[in-house]
Amino acid sequence: MAGEKSGEKKLKSLFTAEQIQQRVRQIASEIDQQYAGRSVHLVCVLKGACIFLADILRHLRLETSVDFICVWSYEQGATSSGEVRITKDLDHSIAGRDVILVEDIVDTGLTLNYLCQLLLRRNPQSLRVATLLDKPSRRIQPVKLDYVGFEIPDHFVVGYGLDYQQRYRNLPDICLLPDAEESERV
Ligand code: IMP
Repeated sequence: MAGEKSGEKKLKSLFTAEQIQQRVRQIASEIDQQYAGRSVHLVCVLKGACIFLADILRHLRLETSVDFICVWSYEQGATSSGEVRITKDLDHSIAGRDVILVEDIVDTGLTLNYLCQLLLRRNPQSLRVATLLDKPSRRIQPVKLDYVGFEIPDHFVVGYGLDYQQRYRNLPDICLLPDAEESERV
């Protein structure tokens, strides 16, 4: 069960901090093997992927560099519209680099599709995608995911960097948002 803060409802844990760490270690080791002898440039999508990035980075043994991009996805009801605004762009060029885009969750796929197209126009040597969570049943736009932490059903989740109205990012577990709150987002 996720840690309960005073005044907050109990949230049901979907993945514990230990389960997440184990999976993140596996993904880092896969990346280490696949990029052996090369360096990898991690592009973290803020804000939700910040904790996933920090953990994966600590497990990687490769030479790494990091940059951040912050996006705002406009919503139509509960679903992203595919219209994305970059609120903070990368600080460094990705031309000629082996880039891994690090995402928190892929839902409709619209945001990721926009980001991949944007990054590919900047001529990286290669581009792969690592996402902590994948909700395949919600997909509108097909996207290729190279590293997936966990596949989840169509539930809104929070914790480990993921938010609901900027809350809950600090929870160590990934938790299901109670139905009452979830229905408010529609
Ligand atoms: P997409 O464009 O529909 O794939 O939306 C991706 C973005 O929506 C993610 O980067 C999250 O910011 C947000 N999102 C989608 N599902 C969830 C969820 O269950 N919890 C928290 N954020 C979510």
